[in-house]
Amino acid sequence: VLGIESSCDETAAAVLEGDAKRMTLLANVVHGQLDIHAAFGGVVPELASRAHIRNIGPVVAAALRQAGVAAHDLDGIAVTAGPGLVGALLVGVAMARGMALALGCPLLGIHHMEGHLLSPFLERVDDFDFPFIALLVSGGHTLLLRATAFGDYQLLGQTRDDSVGEAFDKGARMLGLGYPGGPAIAALAEGGDIRAVPFPRVLLDRTRYDFSYSGLKSALRTLLEREPLAGLSSRRRQDIAAAFQEALITPLVVKAVAACRDTGIDRLVVAGGVGANARLRARLTQAADAANIRVRFPALGLCTDNGAMIACAGLWRLAKGEPGVSTLNARPRWSLATLSA
Ligand code: KG4
Ligand code: ZN
Repeated sequence: VLGIESSCDETAAAVLEGDAKRMTLLANVVHGQLDIHAAFGGVVPELASRAHIRNIGPVVAAALRQAGVAAHDLDGIAVTAGPGLVGALLVGVAMARGMALALGCPLLGIHHMEGHLLSPFLERVDDFDFPFIALLVSGGHTLLLRATAFGDYQLLGQTRDDSVGEAFDKGARMLGLGYPGGPAIAALAEGGDIRAVPFPRVLLDRTRYDFSYSGLKSALRTLLEREPLAGLSSRRRQDIAAAFQEALITPLVVKAVAACRDTGIDRLVVAGGVGANARLRARLTQAADAANIRVRFPALGLCTDNGAMIACAGLWRLAKGEPGVSTLNARPRWSLATLSA
């Protein structure tokens, strides 16, 4: 199965071989656009669409070449249909539609977050099973879900304002760091003191699963008004980054573990770009161990956007007997919970 992803600022394609029980990733090509967007401190939608148009052909060709698979040998083409930037999504969808039509093979429109959700299962499908609790943390989403079966997801909680990835990115910008902000804050936070700044812990009520990150952003802005960046020692900047990162992560850890406890489900899956965060991985592993929860993260390289996770969702759908669709449109807004409806 060929998986194509173009919902934001990565043009990606991957070839995955196997069935719902065992998968081998034959090729995984990701072409990022950091050079294009970095100067703007965030993704510029129109520039992203144009870069996808330039890159999609070569990226798909490279994936097939690396996999040693001829296009005619594909059993299916899976593509991110949404949610995401509509102009960006359209490029991948048009490519996939064209290929499926020309090759006469099944076309599958995949929900981007379902791709993330399944990414921990790539190549390791055997020792983990439904149901599980999923914490999906990316640039666009902060979701806590109960995954009952493949394709059957119930929303437990989500952010009321900014996503956690966005909070990392905006915080990084305020701290004079580059884009994307997550890795930059994580690097600066290393060696910093998490207790140096008493950032608020937002919505820490353990019986509720919603998140909120806009207040933390304001708290950081207020702090930097009191202590302007230019006058800060490098030690103080490290401390602020560490305390800020901790404030972003703590609600994720507390609520993911609470959701497992409340539902009696002892398996937890964490995915999405922020799932690459070392501090989040360490704290969740520790909290899960203490509560006898098995936690599964994707391989580091598969946390951020890629075509492999889209191919994985496509492969599962084909294995379940889904025939594919005859036509497909981009869906910039699309709730994951409606997949089971
Ligand atoms: O899943 P993803 O690649 O794209 C979306 O679907 O949004 O996630 C991108 C987000 C960005 O906000 C980025 O800052 C964040 O993931 N991110 C991280 C780390 N690596 C990427 N956040 C915290 N720590 C990281 N190491
Ligand atoms: Zn993503």
